[in-house]
Amino acid sequence: MASQLSQEPTTSKSELYVSMAQQLRALLNGERNLIANAANLASLIYHTLPDVNWAGFYFRHGTELVLGPFQGKPACVRIAIGKGVCGLSAAQCETIIVPNVHEFPGHIACDEASNSEIVVPVFDGEDVLGVLDLDSPVPARFDEQDAEGLNELVTIFVEACEGWRENDWSNQ
Ligand code: SME
Repeated sequence: MASQLSQEPTTSKSELYVSMAQQLRALLNGERNLIANAANLASLIYHTLPDVNWAGFYFRHGTELVLGPFQGKPACVRIAIGKGVCGLSAAQCETIIVPNVHEFPGHIACDEASNSEIVVPVFDGEDVLGVLDLDSPVPARFDEQDAEGLNELVTIFVEACEGWRENDWSNQ
């Protein structure tokens, strides 16, 4: 017999992002090392969001994006600004949602399991510092709620790392 009592309470996507934002603030509290904070954000996303097979960062070095902290299978190390979904997001300074990566011209495949993708630019003031990239095996996994939620997480990350340039961040 169907019973409402047997149903697990469900967490909406927006509630999940609110909870992740709280967890991220706690994780990054008092720490501004860029690599450490990027690593913890990638891990939080990978282990919290359902149906994500890759989550991580690429950071801008001149005209290229270079692989940063991530969770998932090994990935391509360098992407020219303007190339692939990541390079396009960095060039256009905007979030890109790709419902079907196989239909995206110039998509760079790193894990054959990936079917959809979202890339969020990471800003250092006006400049693009890099991008946050998420892949999913589920087609059309990402929507505007994910874009909003991930942009909020990236904002918390950037604020936590404020002033990182003033330090030899690679050695802290
Ligand atoms: N698919 C990305 C490359 C990075 S991997 O997905 C981790 C792109 O087209 O830019």
